[in-house]
Amino acid sequence: MSTATEQLLKDHKMIRKILESFDVDNPRFPEILKTLQRVVVGHAWFEDEFFMPAVKTRPLIFKPFWSEVSTEHEHIGGLLALLRKTGLKEKKTLQARAITLRSLLETHFTKEEDVLFPLAEQVIGRESLVKLAATMERRKEEVRDHLPR
Ligand SMILES: [Fe+2]
Ligand SMILES: [Fe+2]
Repeated sequence: MSTATEQLLKDHKMIRKILESFDVDNPRFPEILKTLQRVVVGHAWFEDEFFMPAVKTRPLIFKPFWSEVSTEHEHIGGLLALLRKTGLKEKKTLQARAITLRSLLETHFTKEEDVLFPLAEQVIGRESLVKLAATMERRKEEVRDHLPR
């Protein structure tokens, strides 16, 4: 049985894989961007909906992180929406926004992977995180209502 953090790490891996072909010069750029947006927004929804409430039960330890993480989710979601609205002809703008997105995602993932997730594994414990993963699995269909078109 895997834990919620292990599930979320799998998403990070998938997102990094998509980022490998996330290049403005790629002829499939519009589809890749659309996929990236759905996967990233879906992933952030799982973290906000399931993982955050679990860490919020331990405010003394996690309070410094959760507002930062949620704010970053908003920034990343906003930038993805902006990229979707940017015309293909505006190549310089697209490129600049794509670079910003890449670095936002990398900083965000590093924070979660190096600090937040290991801390949660320590404080919340494996057993609770396995239960949380099961809840996420059971309610995974709900993510659809929160995805951009
Ligand atoms: Fe996140
Ligand atoms: Fe994440």
